[in-house]
Amino acid sequence: MNVILLGPPGVGKGTAAKRMVEVYGVPQISTGDLLREAVKNKTDLGLKAKKYMDAGELVPDDLVIGLLKERVAKQDCRKGFILDGFPRTIPQAESLDASGIRIDVVVNLHADESVIIERLSGRRDCPKCGAIYHVKNKPPKKAGICDACQSELITRDDQKEEVIQNRLQVYRKQTEPLIRYYEKKGIQKTINAVQTIEKVFEDIQKAIGQA
Ligand code: AP5
Repeated sequence: MNVILLGPPGVGKGTAAKRMVEVYGVPQISTGDLLREAVKNKTDLGLKAKKYMDAGELVPDDLVIGLLKERVAKQDCRKGFILDGFPRTIPQAESLDASGIRIDVVVNLHADESVIIERLSGRRDCPKCGAIYHVKNKPPKKAGICDACQSELITRDDQKEEVIQNRLQVYRKQTEPLIRYYEKKGIQKTINAVQTIEKVFEDIQKAIGQA
């Protein structure tokens, strides 16, 4: 089962992917997480990527494509994987096709921008285990503390209002055309992301034929 989760920033791709990992035992490959790790470790790639990420711009295709291919080649992807946040441009999708990596289903999560802005501004992340919370929709048991590993939760640098607006604009221009790209291939399924986290997951299960 090789699945792409497509959708605007903050629509709930990471939240859904983590649930899929629990249920299906296949890895979530988030290019955002891989890039944030590279930034944290101050690798060459991380140093180049940081300025784009902080501004809400996409990191150049050549940097991200290399990172993704390296990750998908790892042993734990043999049984399948969930791509969260890749591809994000037509050239990234074309390079995925050219590399011979098979994709079974592309699940497009849809929500209006007002919902997305509310979700992004209330999101809190665990810097240690990667758990995702929301101050209203999915609050931790103790405010500001991760339920799973007790670390202090953080607000990501790209959650500032002006950066959120730019990320949405970048999505509309560079990523939204992928919906049509995969529609033409007959593997794209759109689901309504404005439902509870559990209901979104149920719809994803139906879309990938695992309900
Ligand atoms: P990335 O980390 O991929 O961020 P994103 O796609 O902008 O998405 P987010 O992680 O912000 O949101 P999400 O859809 O995962 O939603 P979440 O589950 O957190 O990318 C960051 C940056 O890295 C990019 O801007 C770019 O610079 C770079 N980058 C990454 N990939 C790249 C690529 N391929 N090419 C070039 N550059 C790349 O949910 C959001 C909130 O909503 C949470 O608080 C959650 O609790 C809540 N929530 C989720 N689902 C629900 C629900 N059903 N109901 C109520 N609340 C919900």
